[in-house]
Amino acid sequence: RRNMQALLQLGLCLILLAAQYAPAGSAVPSSHCRRQCGNVEIPYPFGIDPGCSLRDGFHLDCKVHDGIERPFRSAFEVLDISLKQGTTRVLNFIVGYCYNTSTGSMEYFGRYGGLNEGVSSPYRLSDVQNRFMVIGCNALASISDRDGTGYEGYGAAACRNQSDLVDGSCSGIGCSQTTIPKRMYFYATTFFSTVNNSQIWKFNRCSYAVLMETASFRFSTKYITTNKFNGTNDGRVPVVLDWAVRDIKSCDVAKQNKTGTYACLSSNSKCVNSSNDQGYTCNCTNGYEGNPYLPGGCKGSTDY
Ligand SMILES: *[C@@H]1O[C@H](CO)[C@@H](O)[C@H](O)[C@H]1NC(C)=O
Ligand SMILES: *[C@@H]1O[C@H](CO)[C@@H](O)[C@H](O)[C@H]1NC(C)=O
Ligand SMILES: *[C@@H]1O[C@H](CO)[C@@H](O)[C@H](O)[C@H]1NC(C)=O
Ligand SMILES: *[C@@H]1O[C@H](CO)[C@@H](O)[C@H](O)[C@H]1NC(C)=O
Ligand SMILES: *[C@@H]1O[C@H](CO)[C@@H](O)[C@H](O)[C@H]1NC(C)=O
Ligand SMILES: *[C@@H]1O[C@H](CO)[C@@H](O)[C@H](O)[C@H]1NC(C)=O
Ligand SMILES: *[C@@H]1O[C@H](CO)[C@@H](O)[C@H](O)[C@H]1NC(C)=O
Repeated sequence: RRNMQALLQLGLCLILLAAQYAPAGSAVPSSHCRRQCGNVEIPYPFGIDPGCSLRDGFHLDCKVHDGIERPFRSAFEVLDISLKQGTTRVLNFIVGYCYNTSTGSMEYFGRYGGLNEGVSSPYRLSDVQNRFMVIGCNALASISDRDGTGYEGYGAAACRNQSDLVDGSCSGIGCSQTTIPKRMYFYATTFFSTVNNSQIWKFNRCSYAVLMETASFRFSTKYITTNKFNGTNDGRVPVVLDWAVRDIKSCDVAKQNKTGTYACLSSNSKCVNSSNDQGYTCNCTNGYEGNPYLPGGCKGSTDY
């Protein structure tokens, strides 16, 4: 009898496992999929367990970091996911370029930014919500999309001394912000070595550059004279990514595709062309709220 019970339990376990490890891209995710990682909600098409996301690109790793569970996409910590806007905010890495007083040379710190997952990945750097920030009193940096469109943009920041700087102002004096074009998913940052801090290191030793969410940035004069900008959150700041189902070009094609891959599965949902490169997202129609990627996911006020 005990053997029988053990067998039954094993069988149940296998069924649960099978449900959890259903192949990626299956139309409806299992109810055993975890939908929370620490404080972050993980709505489908995203997932943190095997077989729980719509595509591999929507899979996140739920890892313990500083004692708290947090979702990551490769090295990038995910702060939140919006189904309505088709955006996700992740922590991007600040690149520093600093004068070393003992060697008399300039040195790079931090890592190059942007998810480098290729053109078929769901993610694009939002051209609407991000700016390329360059901070320093003698700083000239480029942001380039080397393996993509061949784009290269520049940020230049300068000042004579600390009295030129104004808290909250980022228009060239100690701080500059530059927009990026659509369709970027990766970028590299380079500082021009002939514009450097070797003459001004006593009050400004480091220059910084990062693509980040404009709304979470406010220039502080302390960013010039201390390591506050880089030191506040481990050299990381939020950047906004536009995600979409990108293996199909647009809504028209997605709706025609007879292979059953159309992602807007809920009634009262609609397809929306991505505003940043090819692909589409789903949205609930007017008066309905919820998850358009799940059958019955969009609910009207009478459904509650
Ligand atoms: C989805 O619909 C909401 C209103 O219900 C709207 O605010 C939002 O902009 C829409 N998202 C997209 C990507 O069109
Ligand atoms: C300056 O360079 C020296 C020699 O490479 C290194 O040991 C030191 O840590 C550097 N200082 C800073 C502040 O990075
Ligand atoms: C900053 O530079 C300006 C112009 O060169 C000068 O008039 C001012 O005295 C300087 N202020 C400080 C605090 O060095
Ligand atoms: C800083 O720039 C000056 C002027 O262009 C240049 O001569 C010098 O070699 C640079 N120093 C470093 C450490 O890159
Ligand atoms: C910024 O912080 C990160 C993480 O602590 C560190 O690795 C990097 O060296 C720092 N950069 C500078 C310029 O101090
Ligand atoms: C979506 O994009 C396709 C291809 O670019 C275009 O033909 C179609 O008109 C767009 N649909 C909407 C609703 O904008
Ligand atoms: C239909 O979807 C499949 C799977 O995503 C894709 O391989 C195929 O190219 C699509 N067909 C068309 C006509 O877009």
